[in-house]
Amino acid sequence: AETGYDLWLRYAPLAPSQAQRYAPHFRYLVADTTRPTLAAAVQELDRGLGRMLGSPPAHAGAVQGNGGIVLATADSPLLSGLDLPLAPLGREGFLIRSVAMPGGRVILVAGNSDAGVLYGTFRLLRLLQLQQPIDALAVADAPKLQLRVLDHWDNLDRYVERGYAGQSLWDWQKLPGYTDPRYTDYARANASIGINATVLNNVNANADILTAPYLQKVKALAGVFRPYGIRVYLTARFSAPIEIGGLKTADPLDPAVRAWWKAKADEIYAVIPDFGGFLVKANSEGQPGPSDYKRSHADGANMLADALAPHGGVVMWRAFVYSEHNDADRHKQASEEFVPLDGKFRDNVLLQVKNGAIDFQPREPFHPLFGAMPKTPLMLEVQITKEYLGFATHLAYLGTMWEEVLESDTFRPRAGSTVAKVLETPVAPRALTGMAGVANIGTDINWSGSQFDQANWYAYGRLAWDPDARAVDIARDWARLTWSADSAIADPIVAMMMESREAVVNYMTPLGLGHLMATGHHYGPAPWVSDLARPEWNPAYYHRADANGIGFDRTPTGTNALGQYAPEVAKRWGDLKTVPDRLLLWFHHVPWDYRMRSGGTLWDRLVAQYDAGITTVEDMQRRWSTLDGKIDARRWAEVRDFLAIQRQEAQWWRDASIAYWQSVSHRPLPAGHLPPP
Ligand code: GCU
Repeated sequence: AETGYDLWLRYAPLAPSQAQRYAPHFRYLVADTTRPTLAAAVQELDRGLGRMLGSPPAHAGAVQGNGGIVLATADSPLLSGLDLPLAPLGREGFLIRSVAMPGGRVILVAGNSDAGVLYGTFRLLRLLQLQQPIDALAVADAPKLQLRVLDHWDNLDRYVERGYAGQSLWDWQKLPGYTDPRYTDYARANASIGINATVLNNVNANADILTAPYLQKVKALAGVFRPYGIRVYLTARFSAPIEIGGLKTADPLDPAVRAWWKAKADEIYAVIPDFGGFLVKANSEGQPGPSDYKRSHADGANMLADALAPHGGVVMWRAFVYSEHNDADRHKQASEEFVPLDGKFRDNVLLQVKNGAIDFQPREPFHPLFGAMPKTPLMLEVQITKEYLGFATHLAYLGTMWEEVLESDTFRPRAGSTVAKVLETPVAPRALTGMAGVANIGTDINWSGSQFDQANWYAYGRLAWDPDARAVDIARDWARLTWSADSAIADPIVAMMMESREAVVNYMTPLGLGHLMATGHHYGPAPWVSDLARPEWNPAYYHRADANGIGFDRTPTGTNALGQYAPEVAKRWGDLKTVPDRLLLWFHHVPWDYRMRSGGTLWDRLVAQYDAGITTVEDMQRRWSTLDGKIDARRWAEVRDFLAIQRQEAQWWRDASIAYWQSVSHRPLPAGHLPPP
């Protein structure tokens, strides 16, 4: 039975007529399989073509007539005389071409590096999975960002922080002696969508992973991932020099501390020569950091950057600085701390910025740091695991959420400077670019805890490759690869995906509300909580509801967090006449009987949004039920049951939330609820 283990790499057998159409193009392949990455590409072709066409291609030493596949890098003698436009594609780009070579017509997959060829191979397989024409191939593609990273929030005891898909994939106890074959499947899945970096451990982890025995285990994983173009990174706990180094301080300006990190970097690179670098969470949620020594984030990041620089490593320094020592609107903390440091970081430092200024809520406006630090490479950090969107049980396709952020106009330095453009445009020639996604995967047989959460891993990879890609196109590809290339099956699935995230927003945090989740686990509703020790731990801090109204005034009459955005943005969102409904209560406190531009009072609209959330889940259930019998029973039943849980819990969210708002607003339920806008 299908379990979902194969992800979007199912390579379902093609119908005989289709297989006959493709088979003549794949009679044999030519590749230098002494190179591990090309060998991996060949293995994937054998697997994919073997399953889809019924038999894998023959392995040949040279072009031998029509109907072959040739895998080659720019320096290969096979390409001499072809004059291919490879140079503009960079190190990881590729070409797929139908070409006439001496000896026969072939499909050529060419890249400037072996990794480029591997990406091209996966693309070629995708064309087949999607049953595209391949007679006159002329595909050229290259990633728009350099670092396309998965962040694992995995602890060494295999507990995954905010993980809803089982245990950590990394079986530290058996490493380095035993490398689970699943590590290879993990690498294949990532390479197929262009992910080229993995941070193995949690941003909140202790420093043990930097000790010699663990580095041997990390080395074993790096060895599995290397052929797939994936480099390994680790989190660097700022206090490691004290905890595992025996020093008295971790002050970044202390010569002994600097020497310790330099020696540690040298040690790591002696074990793992292509180690990627460090990810750091410092002075946030109680983690140690440079502020403990009255030093800046730049002092801290640069110290690590200096240790890594001789080896070509990078530092990904997180801008998620949620500090108990700062009483400003949480929304403002990161910009206050980092904007003054623009230009102060070493070239091998990237600042990793969450999509919004609070914390991965179902909807947040884009983070005001995007566009505000023109001299510093900024990475976008998104959360693939659904900490605040119903864990793995609620269906929420996040492609649309990330697209919304990526296409937001920062107006910095000018109109049209979307978040995607900010990410893609290097701040200087050869400056770093990147994106990071907090992984949603674990040991569950379906990897992600649910079938549909695989789509979020997939969409993340596709958007990190091309931040301008459209969420709907990605959904379409994913649905066809994962469920069926038959559009009668894929189309309803795409429709479900495209409406899914808005449903969650509607039943959890409509109209710009945020952070109404229960304390700690963040699963269910708890807008009523207001007695936790720190103000901003409480949902009440975010919704500010009372008898008069609801919402967080972040305009100049309130905290003026809006002032951190470009004037064009601040003007639009600061004005009740122009702020979109979806961000209304994020930036404004308004009375319950405030007249919405779209008609009706705020109160009526709020209730209607909750209703709309439930209606959409019912809609998804209806669409799914039409697929009964059309897709494999096990995966179908799992989704059906999860949707039933979601339907029930959408109502839990609505009823609990509305009951609480009523207890504050003292308003009756609107007669015959408003239809959704
Ligand atoms: C959220 C999440 C934490 C995580 C933190 C972070 O607050 O709840 O578990 O550590 O984000 O991004 O560092």
